[in-house]
Amino acid sequence: MIVLGIETSCDETAAAVVDDARRIRSNIVLSQVAEHRPYGGVVPEIAARAHVEQIDGLIRQAVDTANLKFSDLDGVAATAGPGLIGGVMVGLVTGKAIAAAINKPLLAINHLEGHALSARLTDDLAFPYLLLLVSGGHCQLLLIEAFGRYRRLGTTIDDAVGEAFDKVAKMLDLGYPGGPAVQAAAERGNPDGIDLPRPMAGRQGCDFSFSGLKTAVRRLLDNNPGLPVEDVAAAFQTAVGDVMVDRAGNAIAMAQASYPGLTHLVIAGGVAANSHLRQCLDVLCRKRGLTLAAPPVDLCTDNGAMIAWAGVEHLAVGLSDPLDTPARARWPLDPDAKPMPFAGKKA
Ligand code: KG4
Ligand code: ZN
Repeated sequence: MIVLGIETSCDETAAAVVDDARRIRSNIVLSQVAEHRPYGGVVPEIAARAHVEQIDGLIRQAVDTANLKFSDLDGVAATAGPGLIGGVMVGLVTGKAIAAAINKPLLAINHLEGHALSARLTDDLAFPYLLLLVSGGHCQLLLIEAFGRYRRLGTTIDDAVGEAFDKVAKMLDLGYPGGPAVQAAAERGNPDGIDLPRPMAGRQGCDFSFSGLKTAVRRLLDNNPGLPVEDVAAAFQTAVGDVMVDRAGNAIAMAQASYPGLTHLVIAGGVAANSHLRQCLDVLCRKRGLTLAAPPVDLCTDNGAMIAWAGVEHLAVGLSDPLDTPARARWPLDPDAKPMPFAGKKA
C-alpha cells in the first residue's frame, strides 16, 4: 500500500510518499522561514500564497523521487486541519484533485494525528503510549490508546511552548525562528542566579501555561539591563525543562493508572528538537521505567511523511473521506476535550 501525504497547515510546504512497510520513499519539505523572517512570525496570507506557488511542483517531485507514477498510489492523504485555514485549503484541495484524477481514496488527516502516529512510522511503536506534542502551535500531553482513540490529558491554557521560545528570542534579539537560537545561546550561558517562575509546576493535572514565564523574562530584562543574553536564555530553557518534567511526570502517573504496562513517552513537534528538553525527559523516563522515543528531528517538525503514514493507517482499517470534506482551522484530536479558555490563537 503506497500513500502520498500533503502537509500545508503552517509554514512548511511538504509532500512525501510512504508505504505500509514503513518505508519513506520520498519526503520533501520546503520551509517558508525566509518569507516570514522580516515579520518575526508566520503571516497567514503569505503562507497560503507560498503554498499555492510551490505545492504542485513539490508533489510532482515527491512522486518522481519515489520512482513512481501517480497511478501507482493507493491513496492521497492531506492535512485537513487544524492550522492556518488558507494553507490547509491549498493542500486539501490539491489532494482532492489528485485523488479524483487517479480515482483513489482521499484521506483527510488531522495534523495532530499525524504527529501522534509518527512514532509508529519511525519506531514501530505499539499502542498505547504517551505523547508530548510541543510545537509553535501546540503544547499537549495525549494518551494514544489505540488507532482513533486519543485522550488529551493536558494542554496549554495560553501560549504554546514554541511560541514562548519565539517570543523570548525576539526579546533577546536572537532572530527568527527563535527556538534553535535560544537553544544555541543557552548552551553558552549559565542559568544560576536568575530566578524565573515554573508556571503550573506542583499543581495537579498536566496543563501548561507559558504567558507568565514570558512576562517574567520581559520584566527581568527591563529591570536588569546588561544581563548576558546567554544566561537569560539558559534560565528560560531550564525553567521550560523543569515545567515539562513536572507536567509529563503527572501525565505518566495518569497514563500508568489506566495502563500499568505503559512503555514509552514520545515527543514530537518542533520543540522536540531541543536537546535540553530531550535530556530532561530522558532522565524522567528512566526514573519511571519508561523509554523516551524521539523521532528524528526532520520527522518531529512538520512534514508530509507523517501525514502519508496516518493515511496508511486509515486505509489499513478501511477508512477514507468524501471529496466534500471541509478544511478546519480548529480540530481537537480528542472530541471529549474541553476547549481551553485562552488557547488556540494559533491552531
Ligand atoms: O512543529 P513545528 O515545526 O511547526 C509548528 O509550529 O507546527 O514547530 C516550530 C516551533 C517554533 O516555535 C520553533 O521556535 C520551535 O518549534 N523550535 C525549537 C527548536 N527548534 C524548533 N524550540 C526549542 N528548541 C529548538 N531546538
Ligand atoms: Zn505540527
